[in-house]
Amino acid sequence: MENKKHESNKNIIWHNQNVTKDKRLTLLNQKPCILWFTGLSGSGKSTIANAVEAELFKRGRKTYLLDGDNVRHGLNKDLGFSESDRIENIRRIGEVSKLFVDSGLIVLTAFISPFKSDRQIAKSLVNYHEFIEIFIDTPLEICEQRDPKGLYKKARDGAIKNFTGISSPYEEPLEPQIHIKTNKNTVQECVDKIIYYLIKFGYIQGNENDYAI
Ligand code: ADX
Repeated sequence: MENKKHESNKNIIWHNQNVTKDKRLTLLNQKPCILWFTGLSGSGKSTIANAVEAELFKRGRKTYLLDGDNVRHGLNKDLGFSESDRIENIRRIGEVSKLFVDSGLIVLTAFISPFKSDRQIAKSLVNYHEFIEIFIDTPLEICEQRDPKGLYKKARDGAIKNFTGISSPYEEPLEPQIHIKTNKNTVQECVDKIIYYLIKFGYIQGNENDYAI
């Protein structure tokens, strides 16, 4: 099977397209990038990513949000939570995000993405400044108290296997571009911190002083 895949790949040749990324960008008033949210289940990734996307939309920016639970209903519905399935989950999201960045969008991804090496692979798919890692740093005890979907309880009861933080590891980012502590800040403060970063580093236009944090 592997060999077959490899052989057919040899006969696939990249086709250059007339409308390039640079040309597309002349129509968009933004620098495309991936806002890669990572953190435990229940840490607040989806909530904050949603609120950031809403703020960007309000500012007329072109975005797309890929959310773990939603993507697992479609593109990745064949994947579970074994280590190899999680690796494949993040590999596909990295590739899809790369395409969206090529199209000029600001992409937001909200996946636990527990393994450092997989986040590193996703990062390596785009230009250096196009990958912004955002660590949604919420202590396990708080995620477990929140337990918005009742999954921690099930995991503790042994009804869910390989649950991140309980029976499967989460490798914290060591040098995220943005570090968010949801137990110290409101959702709005977290959003402001991210918008501030995007303005400061020229991904979008605006007055960074409006977000003095
Ligand atoms: S990832 O680890 O592969 O990045 P992803 O973000 O796509 O995970 O999906 C995580 C979501 O799936 C969680 O927020 C939770 O709702 C649900 N889920 C179901 N089973 C598990 C599990 N074993 N571990 C973690 N999350 C799970």
